[in-house]
Amino acid sequence: MSNTLQKLQDLEPSAEEFAAAVHAGLSQAAKSLPCKFFYDFEGSRLFDRICELPEYYPTRTESRILEKHAGDIAQLIGPGARLVEFGSGAGVKIRLLLSALARPAAYVPVDISRLHLLAAASSLAKDFPRLVIAPICADYTKPFDLPAPTGAAPGATIGFFPGSTIGNFTPDEARLFLVNARQLLGRSSLMLVGVDLRKDEAVLVRAYDDAAGVTAAFNLNLLRRINRELGGTFQLDEFTHRARWNDVLGRMEMHLVSRRAQTVEVDGRRFSFAAGEAIHTENSHKYSISQFQALAGEAGYAPRAVWTDEAELFSVHLLEDARSPGKA
Ligand code: AVI
Repeated sequence: MSNTLQKLQDLEPSAEEFAAAVHAGLSQAAKSLPCKFFYDFEGSRLFDRICELPEYYPTRTESRILEKHAGDIAQLIGPGARLVEFGSGAGVKIRLLLSALARPAAYVPVDISRLHLLAAASSLAKDFPRLVIAPICADYTKPFDLPAPTGAAPGATIGFFPGSTIGNFTPDEARLFLVNARQLLGRSSLMLVGVDLRKDEAVLVRAYDDAAGVTAAFNLNLLRRINRELGGTFQLDEFTHRARWNDVLGRMEMHLVSRRAQTVEVDGRRFSFAAGEAIHTENSHKYSISQFQALAGEAGYAPRAVWTDEAELFSVHLLEDARSPGKA
């Protein structure tokens, strides 16, 4: 294995944090669970399968945009870049960028799923033997430090946040994430963000409720994880997956709906469900290009470039720190 693969910085959320989030979420009048806990090993594997589904257009559309415009993106980023990817997952899209960039210096994948992160980082190290890879297992919504830049003349630092994962935040959380990322990446850094666009409701609902039931399995896996890690007693066949478009808030929502009145235990605490009562598990906000640019502007980012596919399903934004030299 390449010696440019550095030791993992391990800030994986603890079991206590998971337990506290589950207890808090299930104790509310409107029950909810944070979507970041979808990504245990099995959840990450199911998400990789979702990305291949015919109905789930975001992954392949974003990849095509990145492929088509890799040359322009590489030129705007320049040589010797250090890339920091938030939620790096299987590390597929970063390969498109790394292959196009001139002498990329370092790659810092940040992901909440430790085993998945390690597997992706070591596979990337084989294919890019000169690249310094410094994986960090962390919840990237919490503070963490970047390793010091290496190399004689490092280029720009670029944040990479593909997949429209920014849509899993509320607009307020998305703004806060961008403010924190801008601080972390430093002055004159750039940010490349994938953002899913608003579109026909039927297309959206199909993308989150696929015919093969993979998204349903992904959603239900959260209950399996609670059973395994927190001594939960959820019966998975007593809950159903629901995906629906919320037009007022401009987002897809996923829920797990109780089929009947029942009581479930988690770590010895009891939670009651009425028949038809739902646990809200995920939001996926969809933006117009101008809406997203306005949100990024409120976080201190100026638009540098934006690319979309021909059907305008998805957008990729290159943002620059509005405090960069030459900016007001
Ligand atoms: C990771 N995230 C951007 C995905 C999304 O589309 O919101 C997660 C997902 N949920 C259901 N399908 C995919």
